[in-house]
Amino acid sequence: MGTIMHRGLRCGVFLAALAYCLLAGIVAADDNEDIATGERLAAFLRAGRSVISSHQNLINDPAIGNKNLTGQRVVAEALETFGRQGKSAAAGNFTEADKQLFDAQIEALREVVDEHQKMIDTKGVGFKGFIPATFARLVNERFEEKVGDRAKMKVTAPVDLVRNRKASPDNWEQSVIEQKFLSAGWPKGQSFVEAVEVNGHPSFRMLIPEYYSASCLTCHGMPKGEVDVTGYPKEGAAEGDLAGAISITLFK
Ligand code: HEC
Repeated sequence: MGTIMHRGLRCGVFLAALAYCLLAGIVAADDNEDIATGERLAAFLRAGRSVISSHQNLINDPAIGNKNLTGQRVVAEALETFGRQGKSAAAGNFTEADKQLFDAQIEALREVVDEHQKMIDTKGVGFKGFIPATFARLVNERFEEKVGDRAKMKVTAPVDLVRNRKASPDNWEQSVIEQKFLSAGWPKGQSFVEAVEVNGHPSFRMLIPEYYSASCLTCHGMPKGEVDVTGYPKEGAAEGDLAGAISITLFK
């Protein structure tokens, strides 16, 4: 009698362990897919920003009217930049859901540029406020309008650095920024992912740190408090400081 119970218990423990391992395996595989999705969305947003940055002088040129910087051109150049990073929108390992998110992001980019075409082409106006950060925010907002029930993207920052209130970190973002990214031992560039509930929905969240490079400091650098070309006071940042983070949420 005692032996049978003992064996039954052992068997139960074994099954529980097996179930746990299977489950853990499945969760981990799922996580990897989500990480790939998040990294791809972040990479394409960055590609779009760098295309805008590469045309900043043209955009700011008061002497040129028609600049031929259409949504189609920006999308094409962003896809090229994205491809140069070894990424491909056509890669076979995209699920249908992935492809829909990617297509929504491409459309968002195109629409934002096209909707600003008149402004970009305005002769006689130099600085027009159409800079990578603003462009990225508008693209993320448009992305959310399209697929907000499935995914959300945002560029946020440490609270003391936030310029646009729309970029303010939520509780989760703030705690990851403060407790991970700003902690002494955090490996530079390493993102943080976590499965959490967002408004009662099981969600995958990913935060990718971003740092200031030399080119950012004309606006975000020294002297602290001096108003930059965009009208905001400079943060007094140095090259390599944490600037913010790309935040991606995938709703399950
Ligand atoms: C021409 C000035 C200028 C330059 C150069 C610039 N930024 Fe910004 N940055 C801004 C403005 C203006 C905003 C607010 C945009 C908005 O309204 O969403 C901003 C917003 C941000 C945000 C989002 C959080 C917030 O404060 O609203 C981050 C992160 C950021 N910048 C990082 C960078 C980094 C990194 C670089 C260099 C690669 C850079 N910026 C270059 C002007 C600039």
